[in-house]
Amino acid sequence: MNTKLLYIKEDLSNLDELEPIARAMDKGQVVCFPTETVYGLGARYDLDEAVKEIFRVKGRPQDNPLILHESSVERMAAYYKDWDKVAETLTAAFCPGPFTLIMEKADDLKTVASAGLNTIGLRIPDHPVAHALIKYLGRAIAAPSANISGRPSPTNGSDAYEDLAGKVPYIVVADPSRVGLESTIVSWVGGKLELLRPGGISAKQIGDALIKAGIDPLDLGFKVFSMEDYEKESKPRAPGMKYRHYAPRANVHIIKGDNLEDKLSYIKEHIDQGSLGLKPGFYISIELNKRLSDNPWPVLTFEDTADHHAGSHYLFTAFRELDREACSDIWVENLDFNGLGQAYMNRLEKAACKTLRDPSQGPHL
Ligand code: TXA
Ligand code: MG
Repeated sequence: MNTKLLYIKEDLSNLDELEPIARAMDKGQVVCFPTETVYGLGARYDLDEAVKEIFRVKGRPQDNPLILHESSVERMAAYYKDWDKVAETLTAAFCPGPFTLIMEKADDLKTVASAGLNTIGLRIPDHPVAHALIKYLGRAIAAPSANISGRPSPTNGSDAYEDLAGKVPYIVVADPSRVGLESTIVSWVGGKLELLRPGGISAKQIGDALIKAGIDPLDLGFKVFSMEDYEKESKPRAPGMKYRHYAPRANVHIIKGDNLEDKLSYIKEHIDQGSLGLKPGFYISIELNKRLSDNPWPVLTFEDTADHHAGSHYLFTAFRELDREACSDIWVENLDFNGLGQAYMNRLEKAACKTLRDPSQGPHL
């Protein structure tokens, strides 16, 4: 299949160009499209064969459900069985945005996207092109991240093309995704509020929004995770959590340390021991890079460890870029767990996880 890249300006001045995309989706084809978190691999949620094609293209097990993307809270609410003050509060605070809400699905909602579960996850992308496409179709788009299963999610058109060339008719391209990591997933099922995947909205923001609405998060069993809690809470809670995921081909290592000096000595120890790997690459802050001045290896930098948006925005891009440089090992600077730092560390830890690599990802370099 010939894959066309179609650039849509975020000012939507060439909106008519969405016409062939919508037509392809109406015919049951799967397309890649941009969102503010990462690029998605989408199909009309109500066409079973089209949704099954997503699982095939992505190489995703059929029992791993997909989330739906809608254009307004009012429309989103119709896919769930019930709607209550918690749902109202969370969606009012975080939609549109990098926030997915899982609740029991409406009895009449039939979609293979839910993979046989009685729950469904939905979010409203805060991206003009995604929004326009959903409106154009007039119904929800089922979409996982546009990576081949196990790989880092694409955050720009060329990374999406790397995984999807020849597999989909269209890749809709806009600017690189603003957040760069997937949405926060919250499950509100059976009276229990659980954060299944940290993302663009932090646990603290969720707790604060509930408190502001007069709801005590503790009454819902919700915990605002601290770094210590997070480390203790290592048992898998969302599908795919215990295995290597979001991963480049290279081995990933976390540069540990609470401050610059600690991180520097951590790297230097590995240099001294000759244990950086055959061809190491780095994804570190500008500050840390300055201190490694005679480093002969490929380095990609982000602005500042205090600005978690900067590190998160380029993490997946850096993984792919350093793979293209044929690095055997990628050394990535840790961030603290504030704000987006929790999502960043979650992806980094899974990428660094050693268990169960999918052999279809190719050989280890
Ligand atoms: O930012 C995002 O969320 C991106 C963009 C494209 O919207 N999408 C995304 O989808 O990351 P995906 O499929 O790559 O990740 C969604 C995760 C999966 O781990 C899936 O198992 C879980 O959400 N999930 C989906 N529906 C669920 C449900 N009903 N119950 C529990 N987990 C669910
Ligand atoms: Mg994904």
